[in-house]
Amino acid sequence: MILDGTSPAALQEAARTLAAGELVAFPTETVYGLAADAGNDAAVARIFAAKGRPADHPLIVHVADESQLDRFAGEVPPMAHRLVQAFWPGPLTLILKRRDGAAAAAAGGHPTVGLRCPAHPVAHALLEACASAQPPVHGLAAPSANRFGRVSPTTAQHVASEFGDALPVLDGGACPVGIESTIVDLSRGAPVLLRPGMLTREQLEAVCGERVLSPEEVAGPATRASGTLESHYAPQARVRLMDAQMLQTALDLLGDEAPRIAVYARAPLRPRSSRVLVRRMPGSAADTARQLFAVLREFDEQGVQLIWVEMPPDAPDWAGVRDRLKRAAAG
Ligand code: TXA
Ligand code: MG
Repeated sequence: MILDGTSPAALQEAARTLAAGELVAFPTETVYGLAADAGNDAAVARIFAAKGRPADHPLIVHVADESQLDRFAGEVPPMAHRLVQAFWPGPLTLILKRRDGAAAAAAGGHPTVGLRCPAHPVAHALLEACASAQPPVHGLAAPSANRFGRVSPTTAQHVASEFGDALPVLDGGACPVGIESTIVDLSRGAPVLLRPGMLTREQLEAVCGERVLSPEEVAGPATRASGTLESHYAPQARVRLMDAQMLQTALDLLGDEAPRIAVYARAPLRPRSSRVLVRRMPGSAADTARQLFAVLREFDEQGVQLIWVEMPPDAPDWAGVRDRLKRAAAG
C-alpha cells in the first residue's frame, strides 16, 4: 500500500515494520529503494527473494550520516572522508572494506560493503525513525525497488506496480535525480568508478585529487554488480540507440506494416506514420535523467514494441544517462 512519506505516523510504522524484519519501499533522491534492516540477514534474504535477484549480488547499505561509516566499514581511508564531506547526503555510493561480521547478507558475502547516505527528506526521516525504533535499525540495505533486470522505479506508483499492494511504500513524490547513484570503489587502493551517475568523474576527481579509474583499468576479479551487467535496466520493448540522422532515415523508411514504435530524441523528428509515438528528450542531462525511467515505463504501458532513442552527446554530464541507455539497449 502507498503511504504518505511525510506523515510521522507512517514513518514510525515503517520503522517498526523494518525493525520487525519486514520490507518497506522508500524514496531516495535517485530512485526508490526496497529496504530491510541491514543488520538482519533473514530480513535481507527477503529482498533477494522479492526481487528475484541472485544472493551474491551485493546491496547498498543506506546510513543516516558519516558517523555510521565505522559501523559497517572495516577501513575508512582519508579519501572516503573527503568524498563523504563533499557529496553526502547525496547520490554517491562508496565501496569500502567491510567490517568483520557487519551486514554480511547485504554484502552478498563479499569482503566489501557499499555505503550511501541519501539526500531525500523522506529517506532521512525514515533512517532517523529507524535509529530510535525498538530494536534500533542503523542501516537499511536497499536495492532499487524493481524486479531484477528491470527499470528502476522513480515514483511510488512504479514500485506498487512491481510488487503489488501488500508492500508498504512510503510516497515521497517523483525522484529528483532519477538515475541510480554514482558508485566509487575505494577498496582497492586507487579509486574506481563502478557505475556512472549524475555526479561526474570530473567532480569526483576534483575531490579525490587523482584520476578515478574505469573498471577495465584495474586487475583482479570484478565484484558482480547487477548495475554493471551489460544488459540491465531494460524495459519490455526493445531499445535501439541511434544518432539523429539515422533516426530520421529509419523513420522515413517505415512502412504501414511497421510495429508500434516510440521515439525519444532531442532532435525535432518528423515521423510520417501517426503510429509512431514521439517524445522529446530534454536539452539537459539532469532533466533527461529525472524523466528517463518514467518515460521508458510509459512506452511499455502504451504497448510499443520498439523504442528508438537518439544517443545523447558524449559529454561528461551525460555519462550516467548514456550508460543506462546502453544497458537498456543491450537487453
Ligand atoms: O541510487 C542508488 O544507488 C539506489 C538507491 C535505492 O539508493 N540503489 C541501487 O541499488 O541502485 P541496486 O542494488 O539496484 O544497485 C546497487 C549496485 C549494484 O550494482 C551492486 O552490485 C553494487 O551497487 N554494489 C553494492 N555493494 C557492492 C560491493 N560491496 N561491491 C561492489 N558493488 C557493490
Ligand atoms: Mg537496481
